[in-house]
Amino acid sequence: FITSDKSSTEISLASINLTQDDLKRIAAYKAVEFVQSGMVLGLGTGSTAKHAVDRIGELLRQGKLENIVGIPTSKKTQEQALSLGIPLSDLDSHPVIDLSIDGADEVDPDLNLVKGRGGSLLREKMIEGASKKFVVIVDESKMVKHIGGSRLALPVEIVPFCWRFTAEKLRGLLEGYGCEANLRLGEKGKPFVTDNGNYIVDLVNVEKDMGDLGLVSDAILRLPGVVEHGMFLDMASTVIIAGELGVKIKNK
Ligand code: 5RP
Repeated sequence: FITSDKSSTEISLASINLTQDDLKRIAAYKAVEFVQSGMVLGLGTGSTAKHAVDRIGELLRQGKLENIVGIPTSKKTQEQALSLGIPLSDLDSHPVIDLSIDGADEVDPDLNLVKGRGGSLLREKMIEGASKKFVVIVDESKMVKHIGGSRLALPVEIVPFCWRFTAEKLRGLLEGYGCEANLRLGEKGKPFVTDNGNYIVDLVNVEKDMGDLGLVSDAILRLPGVVEHGMFLDMASTVIIAGELGVKIKNK
């Protein structure tokens, strides 16, 4: 059943045994209900967004959607979308996007997000920031009281040039919050390289509440060497949360 009030809607899934991946798929499919023919769509990255891209491909194949243009947030999503026959373009040709759908690593009660565990935070922020509507899809494990808390890292994309210098500046900046700054490693212990040729530093053990997130965001962005960080403040229009007990839709 579905219950709804002005700012949220709930759909009950009680008594069905669901895996975390089922929950991700349910959230993703629900988000794709917002998609209409003729839309320019931001296509997110990650295991949840992948379900949304699959679903869009399926609806196009079935002729239930037409004239969609996808703007992928990563090379991986680009490959997936191409394999599904979704027509693609970019922000240069489509500076205004109708709707973006993407996952998140953390969501707070004000719908602020942490993103970037998949390493695509820069393109995600550019594309989702250019969207008239940004729908975030998560399973309930992603809901937190304060983003950037100790459960997960806050990713920061930095230029490779003298990355230790930048990482140390980041650590120093958030020292008061008990922060460590770890270079993200990829295959064979080599630095993980983003689609933009940059590195990622994961800020871990940031304390439960960083206070004014806007101030922290500005301070991080002011550091030379920093390209972007994974806090998405005041960007989500809607968050679709799939949990054991149902689907909840929260609107900004
Ligand atoms: C990639 C992201 C992802 O959307 C985020 O990490 C969530 O991923 P998943 O859906 O696999 O849990 O921000 O940069």
